[in-house]
Amino acid sequence: MNKIIIESLSLQYADGTESLRNISMDIAEKAITVLFGPAGGGKSSLLRCLNRLNDLAEIKTSSGRILLDGENILDPKTDVIALRRKVGMVFARPVVLPLSIRGNLTYGLEVMGEKRRSKLDEAIERSLKQAALWDEVKDRLDDPAIALSGGQQQRLCVARSLALEPEVILLDEPTSGLDPISTAKVEASLQELKKNYTIILVPHSVQQAARTADFAAFFLQGELVEYGEGSSLFTTPSDKRTEDYVTGRFG
Ligand SMILES: Nc1ncnc2c1ncn2[C@@H]1O[C@H](COP(=O)(O)OP(=O)(O)OP(=O)(O)O)[C@@H](O)[C@H]1O
Ligand SMILES: [Mg+2]
Repeated sequence: MNKIIIESLSLQYADGTESLRNISMDIAEKAITVLFGPAGGGKSSLLRCLNRLNDLAEIKTSSGRILLDGENILDPKTDVIALRRKVGMVFARPVVLPLSIRGNLTYGLEVMGEKRRSKLDEAIERSLKQAALWDEVKDRLDDPAIALSGGQQQRLCVARSLALEPEVILLDEPTSGLDPISTAKVEASLQELKKNYTIILVPHSVQQAARTADFAAFFLQGELVEYGEGSSLFTTPSDKRTEDYVTGRFG
């Protein structure tokens, strides 16, 4: 099943940079789709289109459609707040709120009006378990989030987006600042999460792309060069440019 269908998406920033050129791709439900390739390829731009964060950038022209469960999210009539609840995002540097661990997790729900302690506690436990952080923090939920290690903070950010029960999770190089052990923990939690969520990941290396991808898309200067199952794309790429990048000949 496809959760997202991208049709002929093009994007040009105000300075004339063509960051996405006629991108069409289907994104499978409950799987990890990896967007990889060298700097400036358009990976972050595409992620930002998927939850309309690019609304904040200066765009010269954009065209195409992004269907999420059949609805074009680029339609001006889209409820962007509801969209961002359905499509959560985790960034490269963990951005924890200056609150307790508990406060970080309940903030979004409280803003939406949830006051029931039982509901909030339920969301805390569920999201921390899903982000593989529960065992490490369950006895200190009232400690400041900033006291956690970098890897724990990043999993807390994953948990915070899960607390809102999204359907799609976008992650832009979520492990770029983390040591190998924390990276492995985040990757392990993504493998668990894909059972219930549609995950779109920009990895921080080709190795991470190959380890995590059910499906992989290679981006080069705004172009989608090759897209397919991870199991074949990294071992037998069909495009020479993909092969050169995957084998470390450039990038
Ligand atoms: N807000 C912006 N305004 C103008 N140009 C932008 C903006 N964001 C990105 N770009 C340009 O669009 C192109 C694609 O950038 P993008 O950040 O999407 O690439 P990326 O694949 O995520 O790269 P990286 O691996 O370095 O994160 C680049 O040429 C970049 O300079
Ligand atoms: Mg980027």
